[in-house]
Amino acid sequence: MVYPIDGPLTDAAPGRGFTMQLATKSVLDLFGFDSKEDALEAARTYWNPYKVDWWLENGIPMMIGERNGYELVDVDGHRVIDVHLNGGTYNLGHRNPQLVKRLTDALEIIDVGNHHFPSAGRAALSRALVESVSAPMSKVVFASAGGEAIDVAIKSARWATGRRRIVTLVSAYHGNTGLSVAAGDPKNSAFFLSDRPEEFTQVPLNDLLALQNELAKDDVAAVMIETIPATAGFPMPETGYLAAVADAAAAHGALYIADEVQVGLGRTGSIWAFAKHNVTPDIVVTGKGLGGGLYPIAAAILNDRAAGWLLQDGMAHNGTFAGAELGCAVATEVLRITSDPATKTNVLSLTGQFSDGLAAIKDRHSMLREIRQDGLVIGLRFDGPRGAVAVMRELYRQGIWAIAASYDLSVLQFKPGLLLSSEEADTIVNIVDKTLRALG
Ligand SMILES: Cc1ncc(COP(=O)(O)O)c(C=O)c1O
Repeated sequence: MVYPIDGPLTDAAPGRGFTMQLATKSVLDLFGFDSKEDALEAARTYWNPYKVDWWLENGIPMMIGERNGYELVDVDGHRVIDVHLNGGTYNLGHRNPQLVKRLTDALEIIDVGNHHFPSAGRAALSRALVESVSAPMSKVVFASAGGEAIDVAIKSARWATGRRRIVTLVSAYHGNTGLSVAAGDPKNSAFFLSDRPEEFTQVPLNDLLALQNELAKDDVAAVMIETIPATAGFPMPETGYLAAVADAAAAHGALYIADEVQVGLGRTGSIWAFAKHNVTPDIVVTGKGLGGGLYPIAAAILNDRAAGWLLQDGMAHNGTFAGAELGCAVATEVLRITSDPATKTNVLSLTGQFSDGLAAIKDRHSMLREIRQDGLVIGLRFDGPRGAVAVMRELYRQGIWAIAASYDLSVLQFKPGLLLSSEEADTIVNIVDKTLRALG
């Protein structure tokens, strides 16, 4: 069995997977519930009744209990391998031992800090982030979450250009804060009367002409693109498209913002996914996996032009928890592990393993219509407009948690962990095969 349930935690070396530490106290005990039913009832009453019932009705009765490596154990004991990873939050596994140690060591000395002052943590992390981008970057503005960092990116681009309009892609998702939600698909913004069509324009992916027509109005502050759009089901940018977008933006005085919240941090085999497309962004936004699933932290990495406001009035943007020092401690270690050549080697080897395994499955099961893949960014398109929902449900029963793409329910987002062992990858492929056989 790939996941022994006792023994000490191992080092999280790439390809070695993890062993599981026996929990001494259950999650239900931790929060004072006698049963899963009691906790669900409280969640329905005091938290979000719609969400609680949606998952139950759709056959995913998940309430996460123990979590280690790439395995989740429901509080009722059902085990699944996590191939959703909360959008890449757990790229390096749940409770990665090296990251847990980094956080607990830091807790001996520091807390979140005070955002008004310079700190060693923010200095170290901002330097590491600037150096991680091959394009000439200059400064980092921290945030608590991806949407907040997207807001920073938009504000920086507006300050730099003196323009207001932002162009994004149809079916984009960049977060749920004021500006980030308005930048994405109106499904999330119009519901709260928070859409701003006069400030945010959407064009289809791979339609360069549509983008050029918008840029030609010479009022665009920035083009913002998620390098491989996750919520749209990972449709792939055509060769040369992103570089042409960046060139066109520059020619019209607009900035290029690369949203790498989901697809960055090593998932494509490159630390940043845009680097494979010969793009030089003005701003890179990262989040999710940056905090290793242990401490929320996100960042906008800015070049000189985008960072100009920091010289004029660096007090103009603040956040109490933005760049919290505990988050900096975890994130510097995340970057170190992610940049380790051994991690890249493991990602490349897993990429080939999933590519071969999934192609063989596609040959056997006609319901799997298309495989979209760049490294460990994988979208599986199934028959029918809601095809991935049925697969998501059956996968959960068979032992894998992967989520359907919200804006295209025919596509299953399939995001295996960067540190999986090849045995674990085999197990995942076998479960997918078994699941599609069961769905017949
Ligand atoms: C591409 C992308 N950008 C931004 C965000 C927003 O991040 P957060 O939920 O941390 O605010 C998300 C979240 O799913 C995302 O997928």
